[in-house]
Amino acid sequence: MMKRLMLRNSCWCGSGKKYGECHGRYDEAVALAKKQRRLVPGRKLLKTVEQLDGMRRSAAVNIAVLDYVAENIAEGITTGDIDRMVYEKTTQMHGIPAPLNYEGFPKSVCVSVNNEVCHGIPSDKRVLKDGDIVNVDCSTILDGYFSDSSRMFCIGNVSEENRLLVERTKECVEKGLEQVRPLGFLGDVGQAVNDCARSYGYSVVREIGGHGIGLKFHEDPWVSFVTRKNTGMLLLPGLVFTIEPMVNLGKSRIFTDRKNGWTVYTGDGKPSAQWEYMVLVTDTGYEVMSY
Ligand code: MF3
Ligand code: CO
Repeated sequence: MMKRLMLRNSCWCGSGKKYGECHGRYDEAVALAKKQRRLVPGRKLLKTVEQLDGMRRSAAVNIAVLDYVAENIAEGITTGDIDRMVYEKTTQMHGIPAPLNYEGFPKSVCVSVNNEVCHGIPSDKRVLKDGDIVNVDCSTILDGYFSDSSRMFCIGNVSEENRLLVERTKECVEKGLEQVRPLGFLGDVGQAVNDCARSYGYSVVREIGGHGIGLKFHEDPWVSFVTRKNTGMLLLPGLVFTIEPMVNLGKSRIFTDRKNGWTVYTGDGKPSAQWEYMVLVTDTGYEVMSY
Protein backbone atom coordinates (compact mmCIF):
# COMPACT_ATOMS: atom_id res chain seq x y z
CA MET A 1 0.00 0.00 0.00
CA MET A 2 2.75 2.38 1.04
CA LYS A 3 4.73 1.59 -2.10
CA ARG A 4 1.68 2.12 -4.34
CA LEU A 5 1.19 5.58 -2.90
CA MET A 6 4.82 6.53 -3.44
CA LEU A 7 4.74 5.35 -7.00
CA ARG A 8 1.73 7.56 -7.68
CA ASN A 9 3.28 10.66 -6.15
CA SER A 10 4.85 13.10 -8.53
CA CYS A 11 8.57 12.46 -8.93
CA TRP A 12 11.00 14.45 -6.77
CA CYS A 13 12.87 15.56 -9.89
CA GLY A 14 10.12 17.92 -10.96
CA SER A 15 9.38 16.21 -14.28
CA GLY A 16 5.66 16.34 -13.47
CA LYS A 17 5.47 12.58 -14.04
CA LYS A 18 4.47 10.07 -11.37
CA TYR A 19 7.43 8.71 -9.41
CA GLY A 20 6.62 5.19 -10.62
CA GLU A 21 6.84 6.34 -14.22
CA CYS A 22 9.95 8.44 -13.69
CA HIS A 23 12.89 7.76 -11.34
CA GLY A 24 10.88 5.01 -9.60
CA ARG A 25 11.40 2.81 -12.65
CA TYR A 26 15.01 2.32 -11.56
CA ASP A 27 14.30 1.36 -7.95
CA GLU A 28 14.72 -2.37 -8.51
CA ALA A 29 17.96 -2.01 -10.42
CA VAL A 30 19.26 0.38 -7.76
CA ALA A 31 18.42 -2.09 -5.00
CA LEU A 32 20.17 -4.87 -6.88
CA ALA A 33 23.24 -2.72 -7.55
CA LYS A 34 23.44 -1.83 -3.87
CA LYS A 35 23.20 -5.48 -2.92
CA GLN A 36 26.09 -6.14 -5.28
CA ARG A 37 27.98 -3.37 -3.46
CA ARG A 38 28.19 -1.25 -6.55
CA LEU A 39 28.52 2.52 -6.44
CA VAL A 40 25.08 4.13 -6.81
CA PRO A 41 24.57 7.89 -7.15
CA GLY A 42 22.73 9.35 -4.17
CA ARG A 43 19.78 11.67 -4.65
CA LYS A 44 22.03 14.71 -4.25
CA LEU A 45 23.93 13.84 -7.43
CA LEU A 46 20.75 13.50 -9.50
CA LYS A 47 19.65 16.89 -10.76
CA THR A 48 16.10 18.20 -10.71
CA VAL A 49 14.47 19.69 -13.79
CA GLU A 50 15.01 23.14 -12.30
CA GLN A 51 18.70 22.50 -11.67
CA LEU A 52 19.16 21.12 -15.17
CA ASP A 53 17.55 24.25 -16.54
CA GLY A 54 20.08 26.39 -14.67
CA MET A 55 22.92 24.18 -15.82
CA ARG A 56 21.78 24.44 -19.45
CA ARG A 57 21.79 28.23 -19.18
CA SER A 58 25.29 28.11 -17.72
CA ALA A 59 26.35 25.73 -20.48
CA ALA A 60 24.93 28.09 -23.13
CA VAL A 61 27.39 30.73 -21.89
CA ASN A 62 30.24 28.22 -21.80
CA ILE A 63 29.51 27.14 -25.39
CA ALA A 64 29.29 30.75 -26.56
CA VAL A 65 32.64 31.53 -24.94
CA LEU A 66 34.31 28.59 -26.68
CA ASP A 67 32.67 29.59 -29.99
CA TYR A 68 34.11 33.08 -29.50
CA VAL A 69 37.58 31.65 -28.85
CA ALA A 70 37.19 29.46 -31.96
CA GLU A 71 36.50 32.55 -34.09
CA ASN A 72 39.47 34.49 -32.77
CA ILE A 73 42.25 32.04 -32.00
CA ALA A 74 45.13 32.42 -34.47
CA GLU A 75 48.85 32.23 -34.95
CA GLY A 76 50.60 35.17 -33.26
CA ILE A 77 48.15 35.78 -30.43
CA THR A 78 49.15 34.85 -26.88
CA THR A 79 47.47 32.53 -24.42
CA GLY A 80 47.01 35.68 -22.32
CA ASP A 81 44.85 37.06 -25.16
CA ILE A 82 42.67 33.94 -24.91
CA ASP A 83 42.32 34.53 -21.18
CA ARG A 84 41.06 38.07 -21.84
CA MET A 85 38.62 36.83 -24.50
CA VAL A 86 37.19 34.29 -22.05
CA TYR A 87 36.90 36.80 -19.21
CA GLU A 88 35.25 39.44 -21.43
CA LYS A 89 32.77 37.13 -23.13
CA THR A 90 31.82 35.29 -19.94
CA THR A 91 31.20 38.42 -17.91
CA GLN A 92 29.35 40.14 -20.79
CA MET A 93 26.93 37.21 -20.61
CA HIS A 94 26.65 37.67 -16.82
CA GLY A 95 28.69 34.56 -16.03
CA ILE A 96 31.78 34.10 -13.89
CA PRO A 97 34.78 32.13 -15.21
CA ALA A 98 34.92 29.21 -12.77
CA PRO A 99 38.72 28.73 -12.88
CA LEU A 100 39.45 32.29 -11.71
CA ASN A 101 40.80 31.99 -8.14
CA TYR A 102 39.67 28.35 -8.01
CA GLU A 103 42.05 26.81 -5.47
CA GLY A 104 44.41 29.65 -6.30
CA PHE A 105 44.31 29.31 -10.10
CA PRO A 106 45.25 32.81 -11.31
CA LYS A 107 43.40 33.06 -14.66
CA SER A 108 39.95 32.60 -16.22
CA VAL A 109 40.70 29.61 -18.43
CA CYS A 110 43.19 26.77 -18.84
CA VAL A 111 45.15 26.86 -22.10
CA SER A 112 47.44 23.90 -22.70
CA VAL A 113 49.75 23.76 -25.72
CA ASN A 114 51.41 20.69 -27.32
CA ASN A 115 53.18 18.72 -24.54
CA GLU A 116 51.12 20.49 -21.86
CA VAL A 117 48.51 17.96 -20.78
CA CYS A 118 46.18 20.32 -18.88
CA HIS A 119 45.95 23.30 -16.48
CA GLY A 120 48.17 25.53 -18.63
CA ILE A 121 48.18 29.06 -17.18
CA PRO A 122 47.57 31.78 -19.79
CA SER A 123 50.50 34.15 -20.23
CA ASP A 124 51.18 37.25 -22.30
CA LYS A 125 54.58 35.73 -23.08
CA ARG A 126 53.24 32.53 -24.65
CA VAL A 127 52.72 33.23 -28.35
CA LEU A 128 50.83 30.64 -30.41
CA LYS A 129 52.86 29.53 -33.36
CA ASP A 130 52.32 27.65 -36.61
CA GLY A 131 51.87 23.94 -35.92
CA ASP A 132 50.72 24.21 -32.30
CA ILE A 133 47.85 22.13 -30.98
CA VAL A 134 46.00 23.96 -28.22
CA ASN A 135 43.42 22.92 -25.64
CA VAL A 136 41.15 25.66 -24.32
CA ASP A 137 39.27 24.48 -21.22
CA CYS A 138 36.39 26.77 -20.25
CA SER A 139 34.18 26.60 -17.19
CA THR A 140 31.35 28.95 -16.27
CA ILE A 141 29.32 29.77 -13.18
CA LEU A 142 25.89 31.28 -13.90
CA ASP A 143 23.41 31.83 -11.05
CA GLY A 144 25.39 29.30 -9.03
CA TYR A 145 25.27 26.60 -11.72
CA PHE A 146 28.49 25.21 -13.18
CA SER A 147 29.35 24.13 -16.71
CA ASP A 148 32.63 22.85 -18.11
CA SER A 149 33.93 21.82 -21.54
CA SER A 150 37.06 22.04 -23.64
CA ARG A 151 38.06 21.92 -27.28
CA MET A 152 41.26 21.54 -29.28
CA PHE A 153 42.45 24.05 -31.86
CA CYS A 154 45.05 23.53 -34.58
CA ILE A 155 47.18 26.58 -35.36
CA GLY A 156 48.24 26.90 -39.00
CA ASN A 157 49.89 23.87 -40.52
CA VAL A 158 49.83 21.08 -37.96
CA SER A 159 51.78 17.88 -38.62
CA GLU A 160 49.69 14.95 -39.78
CA GLU A 161 50.65 13.05 -36.62
CA ASN A 162 49.38 15.82 -34.33
CA ARG A 163 46.27 16.53 -36.39
CA LEU A 164 45.32 12.87 -36.16
CA LEU A 165 45.92 12.91 -32.39
CA VAL A 166 43.49 15.82 -32.08
CA GLU A 167 40.81 14.25 -34.31
CA ARG A 168 41.06 10.79 -32.82
CA THR A 169 40.93 12.08 -29.25
CA LYS A 170 37.55 13.61 -30.10
CA GLU A 171 36.52 10.26 -31.55
CA CYS A 172 37.49 8.63 -28.22
CA VAL A 173 35.21 11.03 -26.34
CA GLU A 174 32.36 10.21 -28.72
CA LYS A 175 32.92 6.48 -28.27
CA GLY A 176 32.63 7.08 -24.52
CA LEU A 177 29.50 9.14 -25.02
CA GLU A 178 27.79 6.27 -26.86
CA GLN A 179 28.04 4.24 -23.65
CA VAL A 180 26.05 6.75 -21.60
CA ARG A 181 22.58 5.40 -20.79
CA PRO A 182 20.45 4.72 -17.71
CA LEU A 183 21.51 1.50 -15.97
CA GLY A 184 24.86 1.52 -17.72
CA PHE A 185 28.06 1.90 -15.70
CA LEU A 186 30.65 4.61 -15.61
CA GLY A 187 33.31 2.01 -16.33
CA ASP A 188 31.68 1.37 -19.72
CA VAL A 189 32.53 4.95 -20.69
CA GLY A 190 36.15 4.66 -19.54
CA GLN A 191 36.72 1.39 -21.33
CA ALA A 192 35.27 2.69 -24.61
CA VAL A 193 37.49 5.78 -24.44
CA ASN A 194 40.56 3.75 -23.54
CA ASP A 195 39.99 1.05 -26.18
CA CYS A 196 39.66 3.76 -28.82
CA ALA A 197 42.86 5.54 -27.76
CA ARG A 198 44.85 2.33 -27.58
CA SER A 199 43.61 1.18 -30.98
CA TYR A 200 45.60 4.11 -32.39
CA GLY A 201 48.65 3.36 -30.24
CA TYR A 202 48.00 6.30 -27.91
CA SER A 203 47.98 6.25 -24.12
CA VAL A 204 45.49 7.73 -21.68
CA VAL A 205 46.48 9.76 -18.61
CA ARG A 206 45.59 7.83 -15.47
CA GLU A 207 45.90 10.40 -12.68
CA ILE A 208 43.48 13.05 -13.96
CA GLY A 209 39.95 12.51 -15.23
CA GLY A 210 36.42 13.79 -15.41
CA HIS A 211 34.00 14.61 -12.64
CA GLY A 212 30.43 15.19 -11.68
CA ILE A 213 29.35 18.81 -12.02
CA GLY A 214 26.39 21.10 -11.43
CA LEU A 215 26.09 22.78 -8.05
CA LYS A 216 29.86 22.63 -7.61
CA PHE A 217 32.74 22.69 -10.10
CA HIS A 218 33.82 19.20 -9.14
CA GLU A 219 31.31 16.73 -7.70
CA ASP A 220 31.22 12.96 -7.48
CA PRO A 221 31.73 10.77 -9.39
CA TRP A 222 35.39 10.87 -10.33
CA VAL A 223 35.54 9.73 -13.97
CA SER A 224 38.55 7.62 -14.89
CA PHE A 225 39.32 6.70 -18.48
CA VAL A 226 41.28 3.63 -17.53
CA THR A 227 38.36 1.54 -16.30
CA ARG A 228 36.66 -1.70 -17.30
CA LYS A 229 33.10 -2.03 -18.49
CA ASN A 230 30.44 -3.20 -16.03
CA THR A 231 32.32 -1.53 -13.15
CA GLY A 232 32.05 1.81 -11.38
CA MET A 233 29.03 3.96 -10.64
CA LEU A 234 25.58 2.98 -11.90
CA LEU A 235 24.27 5.59 -14.35
CA LEU A 236 20.83 7.05 -13.62
CA PRO A 237 18.86 9.85 -15.29
CA GLY A 238 19.81 13.22 -13.86
CA LEU A 239 23.47 12.37 -13.28
CA VAL A 240 25.78 14.90 -14.95
CA PHE A 241 29.50 14.37 -15.45
CA THR A 242 32.30 15.24 -17.84
CA ILE A 243 34.04 13.03 -20.37
CA GLU A 244 37.47 14.60 -20.73
CA PRO A 245 40.27 12.14 -21.39
CA MET A 246 43.81 13.36 -21.85
CA VAL A 247 45.27 11.30 -24.66
CA ASN A 248 49.04 11.19 -25.17
CA LEU A 249 50.84 10.48 -28.42
CA GLY A 250 53.57 8.74 -26.41
CA LYS A 251 53.63 7.34 -22.90
CA SER A 252 51.00 8.07 -20.26
CA ARG A 253 53.45 9.38 -17.63
CA ILE A 254 52.93 13.02 -16.61
CA PHE A 255 54.41 15.51 -14.17
CA THR A 256 53.32 18.83 -12.68
CA ASP A 257 55.19 22.13 -13.00
CA ARG A 258 57.08 22.64 -9.76
CA LYS A 259 57.23 26.39 -10.12
CA ASN A 260 53.58 27.23 -10.79
CA GLY A 261 52.08 24.16 -9.12
CA TRP A 262 49.49 23.75 -11.90
CA THR A 263 50.62 22.95 -15.39
CA VAL A 264 50.80 19.25 -16.18
CA TYR A 265 53.21 18.03 -18.90
CA THR A 266 53.83 14.72 -20.63
CA GLY A 267 56.81 12.89 -19.17
CA ASP A 268 58.26 12.15 -22.60
CA GLY A 269 57.71 15.64 -24.02
CA LYS A 270 55.37 14.35 -26.74
CA PRO A 271 52.05 16.08 -27.44
CA SER A 272 48.80 15.44 -25.61
CA ALA A 273 45.21 16.21 -26.64
CA GLN A 274 41.96 16.59 -24.73
CA TRP A 275 38.32 17.30 -25.51
CA GLU A 276 35.75 17.69 -22.77
CA TYR A 277 32.00 17.21 -23.03
CA MET A 278 29.62 17.79 -20.14
CA VAL A 279 27.02 15.04 -20.32
CA LEU A 280 23.60 14.39 -18.76
CA VAL A 281 22.22 10.87 -18.40
CA THR A 282 18.65 11.00 -19.73
CA ASP A 283 15.75 8.50 -19.77
CA THR A 284 16.84 7.23 -23.16
CA GLY A 285 20.60 7.84 -23.26
CA TYR A 286 22.45 11.11 -22.98
CA GLU A 287 22.34 14.82 -23.66
CA VAL A 288 25.54 16.75 -24.32
CA MET A 289 25.07 19.86 -22.18
CA SER A 290 28.34 21.61 -23.04
CA TYR A 291 31.02 20.93 -25.64
N1 MF3 B 1 38.43 22.72 -16.27
C1 MF3 B 1 39.17 21.73 -15.53
C2 MF3 B 1 38.34 20.47 -15.53
O1 MF3 B 1 37.94 20.06 -16.53
C3 MF3 B 1 39.46 22.17 -14.16
C4 MF3 B 1 40.45 23.22 -14.10
S1 MF3 B 1 40.75 23.69 -12.49
C5 MF3 B 1 41.51 25.15 -12.74
O2 MF3 B 1 38.06 19.87 -14.55
F1 MF3 B 1 41.62 25.69 -11.59
F2 MF3 B 1 42.69 24.91 -13.30
F3 MF3 B 1 40.79 25.87 -13.52
CO1 CO C 1 36.22 19.22 -16.25
